[in-house]
Amino acid sequence: MEQKETGLNRITEYQQLVDDTLKGRSYGAHPRELYEPIEYIMSLGGKRMRPVLVLMACEFFGGDVKNALHASIAVELFHNFTLVHDDIMDKAPLRRGKQTVHVKWNDNIAILSGDAMMVRAYQELCKTDVAQLPALLEIFSDTAAKVCEGQQLDMNYERVSKVPIPNYIKMIELKTAVLLGGALKMGALTGGAREEDAQQLYNFGKHIGIAFQLQDDILDVYADAEKFGKQKGGDIIANKKTYLLLKAMEMAETNRYLKEELQLWIAAPHFDAKEKVEAVTNIYNFLNVKELARAEMKKQYAAAMACLKGIPVAEEKKNALIAFADSLMVREV
Ligand code: IPE
Ligand code: IPE
Ligand code: MG
Ligand code: MG
Ligand code: MG
Repeated sequence: MEQKETGLNRITEYQQLVDDTLKGRSYGAHPRELYEPIEYIMSLGGKRMRPVLVLMACEFFGGDVKNALHASIAVELFHNFTLVHDDIMDKAPLRRGKQTVHVKWNDNIAILSGDAMMVRAYQELCKTDVAQLPALLEIFSDTAAKVCEGQQLDMNYERVSKVPIPNYIKMIELKTAVLLGGALKMGALTGGAREEDAQQLYNFGKHIGIAFQLQDDILDVYADAEKFGKQKGGDIIANKKTYLLLKAMEMAETNRYLKEELQLWIAAPHFDAKEKVEAVTNIYNFLNVKELARAEMKKQYAAAMACLKGIPVAEEKKNALIAFADSLMVREV
């Protein structure tokens, strides 16, 4: 219990460090239309999970977190850039309880501000010690390319009726999980980890990242929308091939009535959003698909723990990372 508390304190401490570092930052002056949205999205908070992971991984291998701070901020800038573009693609009205950038301004502004954030992320990363920079640049760039691949698959899957579950898992690995893995690997290298240990930590991050996205899919339907800060049922409205929908489709195969109802909602060109979300949620509830998603999360958690176990670092040093993984499993925001 005490160890868990120490782990949680560490997370809060690093979140604070990231917030303090970001506070009052300027990303550029003119034109205001380019930079104001960046200040807006960066100041809306968020959990700061990925930069915290960079710092935790550095400390995990005995490094000085000061050396990881630029990489940490770069990762958060990159993450926020992906959110701004993701919200255009997903036609999302709300983010962190506030209007999305493309709604508050417009699509073109959201595209350009996002691009500028990506550039600022690289500039931030480049402030890292030159001895470590080439390795970090490689991981960062590889991760960023994978996120694009995942996002493209996510978009492709909106339009196809059948997606096998392993393809879905691969898609969320790319769009979401590799960034958690990449954050950890970058932090590990700044902390002086051996390549193979850094890679094991990457794999740990990949599995908790998959569990994280599964929970995101669950929360999209079941969260207290006010707390979660996103439109309730956005994935249902957009026909996102989430674990919930894919499992529901699989189970409805043997129930003609449910199968037809689900297909009607998915194929409907015009619908009342609230009605569609309610109807599909009722089908999810009836088939209990949320529990199946939870079961898959637990499998991924176990796989993550197995990766962590294999890293030759004192067991008590693992508590902060375990506390982090545990918090993801029960998160409500
Ligand atoms: C949202 O990420 C995007 C996903 C990969 C699901 P977070 O849930 O970490 O968003 P913030 O940064 O805390 O708002
Ligand atoms: C987001 O997945 C993944 C990236 C932003 C790369 P989602 O589309 O599910 O994220 P939210 O729910 O909008 O935060
Ligand atoms: Mg989205
Ligand atoms: Mg999306
Ligand atoms: Mg989501």
